[in-house]
Amino acid sequence: MPVPLLDLRAQHATIRDEVVAAMMKVVDSQLFILGAAVEELEVAVAKLSHTKYAVGCANGTDALLLALRALDCGPGDEVITTPFTFFATAGTIHNVGAKPVFVDIDPKTFNILPDAAAAARTSRSKACVPVDLFGQMAPIEDVMKALPGLPVIEDAAQTIGARRSVDGEWRMAGEMATIGTFSFFPSKNLGGYGDGGMMVTQDEALAARLKRLRMHGGSKMYFHDEVGFNSRLDALQAAVLSAKLPHLAGWSAKRRANAAYYDKALADVADLTTPFIDSANESIFNQYTIRTERRDELQAFLKQRGIGTAIYYPLPLHLQPCFAYLGYQAGSCPEAERAATEVLSLPIYPELTQGQLDEVVENVRAFYGY
Ligand SMILES: Cc1ncc(COP(=O)(O)O)c(C=O)c1O
Repeated sequence: MPVPLLDLRAQHATIRDEVVAAMMKVVDSQLFILGAAVEELEVAVAKLSHTKYAVGCANGTDALLLALRALDCGPGDEVITTPFTFFATAGTIHNVGAKPVFVDIDPKTFNILPDAAAAARTSRSKACVPVDLFGQMAPIEDVMKALPGLPVIEDAAQTIGARRSVDGEWRMAGEMATIGTFSFFPSKNLGGYGDGGMMVTQDEALAARLKRLRMHGGSKMYFHDEVGFNSRLDALQAAVLSAKLPHLAGWSAKRRANAAYYDKALADVADLTTPFIDSANESIFNQYTIRTERRDELQAFLKQRGIGTAIYYPLPLHLQPCFAYLGYQAGSCPEAERAATEVLSLPIYPELTQGQLDEVVENVRAFYGY
């Protein structure tokens, strides 16, 4: 039985009528640019993430770019971040003219180490961008404590609806940071039928600036306070996302149940480490990422048997050719480098059947001779 890494058609089949009706409402209104559909989603995402403001934009990359610009990050500034993430996290820092400063990760959670971030702070540090990787929040409160006074952009592209217990209270992804950013790329837990993104904040002035920046830097048509971008969330995507949002909690719970099943079924496999979730965190398992020294062999074995897997991420960002100018060498971020050789993400999407879960488990076990 083939088990793809992700099967978006399986999910679409369960919500087709709701999504198509929502899309047709926008089509019939012919209001495609911002307007009620985008505002409705912004209100809902602000509520979900316990923030006062949410501003839609074109994609998760632009959400980071606009956030960096709203915090005045530019030439001469340094922005501290993790090298073990999707390229956009650091590509946007470069693209606003600032310098990415990479610090190593916690090998258990794959998220940034607050102490390492603090050690990298200089008089040029303008912001820090921790990433909530694979669906599990980074310790945002510890990052903020370690960097007093430094704005924090939480890249929550993979983590909408995840939460973390801080001093006995649930805090949502995006809630604690200066600005939180989300991606609605189709493979995310809340994915659009195309690109989409959103920024959340508790700060009214920042929200107003983010709104200006997504519309060429003007709050009034044809009057521009600064040079911004054309980065709006498409109204059709907003309608799709609003139709899908009520399902998000259930889908993420199903991913957690799948993860728990794998955890148990693979617990005795000696040469493999199942994901570590910090006891303060409730992950949404955008990915279920195991570690093994025989990663490439395991991936080839599973591929032969029709099981889809992926390597997020094969080369840490500090060693990417485009960042050679920053002068990092192999060994600068040893944990990120080791993770890049050992990680493998298995199918975890909510529509997996019991038969498919068992197929993955049996084949992984068979590879190790169990
Ligand atoms: C951690 C992270 N940051 C940023 C992005 C960029 O989002 P998008 O693809 O919507 O531009 C993604 C997703 O692709 C991501 O996983």
